[in-house]
Amino acid sequence: MRRKIIAGNWKMHKTPSETERFIRKFLDLVPKEPSCKVIIFPPFTSLERAGRFLAPTTVELGAQDVHFHDNGAFTGEIASSMIKECGGNYVLVGHSERRTHFQESDTIVNRKLVAAIHGNLAPIICIGETITEYRAGTTKQRLEAQLSGGLSKIDPSQLASILIAYEPVWAIGTGETAAPATAQRTIEYIRQWIAGKYNAASADMVPILYGGSVTAANTRDLLAQPDIDGLLVGGASLDPHSFAAIVIASE
Ligand code: 13P
Repeated sequence: MRRKIIAGNWKMHKTPSETERFIRKFLDLVPKEPSCKVIIFPPFTSLERAGRFLAPTTVELGAQDVHFHDNGAFTGEIASSMIKECGGNYVLVGHSERRTHFQESDTIVNRKLVAAIHGNLAPIICIGETITEYRAGTTKQRLEAQLSGGLSKIDPSQLASILIAYEPVWAIGTGETAAPATAQRTIEYIRQWIAGKYNAASADMVPILYGGSVTAANTRDLLAQPDIDGLLVGGASLDPHSFAAIVIASE
């Protein structure tokens, strides 16, 4: 049985002091030991502060990106060891905003994934089709390309530390959530693809999250789908009350 995961991607929001205020309030609102795993992804500059406040709690911490080298002359980049020392155990890789605005290719996503695993971070590889691809009926081809490129050279033992987030680009920040049955069908396809490339046991274990306009109102219906193991929340994770409501709705 895969444990449900509720993850909050704050994107480029919150300073360290705003992060601290959020965490204090959020911890007041959720059970000390929620049945789901909760992960917060603040910006790099808030990781250290978040790590300090989350250390005594069950809430996990992750970064929104990672560079594929361990260190070196890469101005502006952040290595997995830096995230780890702040208390991060997870990292988002290949979010659609990075693919669109920062030209991240599947090759770069793959290098980041490998670096994260070597740095003992559990990567969440984000995949999803655009509205044009969705309308053209080419969602599966898009996902297939992102999966085969992103997971290139990843062996079954490495797959065990990877999570997948299916985030249709047309559902991100639009208020237009994928219908639970549609999200289920696509995520079932992703799981079948994993079974084909690896094996049934790996496919059964890999956590697959849905992301795109998640709110407390649609949490239950999405999580009721057999292949949806969790939610990657953007906008609704910025307010401690709305994020706590999602955690509580997932119980
Ligand atoms: P929204 O929940 O704001 O649609 O964002 C989803 C997302 O991109 C999470 O990574």
